Amino acid sequence: MRNTKKIVVANWKMNPATLAEVRAIVAGVRRQIKKVRGVEAVVCPPFVYLALLAGKGALKFGAQDVFWQNGGSFTGEISPEMLTSLGVSHAIVGHSERRAQGEGDEIVARKIGAALREGLTAILCIGEKERKEDGAYLEFLRVQIKNSLAGVGRKFLSSLVIAYEPLWAIGKSFHDAMKPHEMEVTAIFIRKTLAELFDKEGAFRVPILYGGSVNFENATALVSGGGIDGLLIGRESLDVEHFGKILNAM
Ligand code: PGA
Repeated sequence: MRNTKKIVVANWKMNPATLAEVRAIVAGVRRQIKKVRGVEAVVCPPFVYLALLAGKGALKFGAQDVFWQNGGSFTGEISPEMLTSLGVSHAIVGHSERRAQGEGDEIVARKIGAALREGLTAILCIGEKERKEDGAYLEFLRVQIKNSLAGVGRKFLSSLVIAYEPLWAIGKSFHDAMKPHEMEVTAIFIRKTLAELFDKEGAFRVPILYGGSVNFENATALVSGGGIDGLLIGRESLDVEHFGKILNAM
């Protein structure tokens, strides 16, 4: 059965700079999460901190990336089984900041497959660079979804999450974030594409998140009017008070 909880993913990116800050933020998030119900919060810190945090307490932890294979000569990479052995439950795959470093759909698909086979919940990031009147971004999204999920079996759909993060809305002011009605139309399009790839019932099993300049001021409207199941938060997830307000808004 589909999880009816709202999902909030905190993508810390390459922050914060010190372990002392990490401990303070996590303690704060644990306090905030106790105050809310019906929300699944997943914190995705850099790998070095992940090992110290995951598997302790009720808060879920995710990786910001994962390699496509378990074991082997791959300097600097982290495998899916290393993550699950630490109690990590989620992995973000294909974030636009990684795609900008040359990670294409084919690599993303391999990573998604490996993460799912190992029992991780894979958070696939998709999103177009720009939106023009001609609607070309819809075809871009359709191809990106199909290619990024190439080879993924239907049985894994309950462990898949799609985070729609248009590049034009990431790292901006909340005024530049996507508007709820635009998100609603996009969410329908994403589900339609999933239904083409799998089937309708399968498409409705996959939670869709929005990411890109979300803060506590636009979180409620996006979730209530955007046809989505939750949010992926960048900068605002490092501010415990603001992040707590976002959790509350769910
Ligand atoms: P932002 O980042 O919330 O700081 O815009 C979102 C993301 O890149 O995942």
